[in-house]
Amino acid sequence: MNIVLINGSMRKGSTYHYAQMVIDNIKKESPVDLFEFFLPKDLPNFCMGCYSCIFKSEDKCPHVNQTSIIQKAIDESDLVILTSPCYVFDVSGQMKSFLDHFGYQWMSHRPNPKMFHKIGLGIVTAAGAGMKPALKTITRSLFWWGIGKTYGLSQAVMAASYSEIPEKIKLKMESKALKTAKSIAKNFSKIKKMKPGFLTRFLFNIMKLGKSGHPEWNQVDYDFWKKNGYFDGFKPWNA
Ligand SMILES: Cc1cc2nc3c(=O)[nH]c(=O)nc-3n(C[C@H](O)[C@H](O)[C@H](O)COP(=O)(O)O)c2cc1C
Repeated sequence: MNIVLINGSMRKGSTYHYAQMVIDNIKKESPVDLFEFFLPKDLPNFCMGCYSCIFKSEDKCPHVNQTSIIQKAIDESDLVILTSPCYVFDVSGQMKSFLDHFGYQWMSHRPNPKMFHKIGLGIVTAAGAGMKPALKTITRSLFWWGIGKTYGLSQAVMAASYSEIPEKIKLKMESKALKTAKSIAKNFSKIKKMKPGFLTRFLFNIMKLGKSGHPEWNQVDYDFWKKNGYFDGFKPWNA
């Protein structure tokens, strides 16, 4: 299984260790090739809101030298893991900036057919509260990218660093990581044949209705949908 791990922090702290617990357990079930990125090192600039990706091409992003490397790793992976410590009840700024850079492949713009047969996993830790909105920020993007099946893991660690986490909480994390890894490994063999859920299919069709008569809204999106046959009934999950 190819796994891409995008760490929403440079720290090898609680969040990083939580992700490693899952990956170590997946390795017991299946051989793994891991592509790993750390933010902000591997994508140091904020999205500037230049709209180049949306109205011209993702290749026109001023940060394409970094985004293209990450995009290739995501495209080639079966499991996409996005992690973040919770900062003020949401993801880290660098994780948010990463997600902004990949907004062009939301289903509302240019749904990437490679996404629909992947598994997504969001992982968040917080000292005590705010995991839910932070995890939602991650899983919302995974959903809108079209990812077929998404898992979420969150934990209040009651600590500022991994070494300070109480033993009882570490054991709980290990148990949840094992359960998630087993489920991912089990679903991995099915994901290539899996149809996305009702909401994904419904929203894709709503986007199609909106886009089909309106090339003037965004010519690049329109041409992409046309080229991929999406206006003629072809679905990205059948690619
Ligand atoms: C800037 C900043 C903001 C934080 N905001 C929250 C928060 O809103 N809620 C919370 O419970 N913990 C908060 N924390 C604590 C971290 O989320 C928590 O310690 C997390 O497990 C750190 O993960 P890491 O070890 O992977 O860096 C914050 C920490 C920092 C540095």
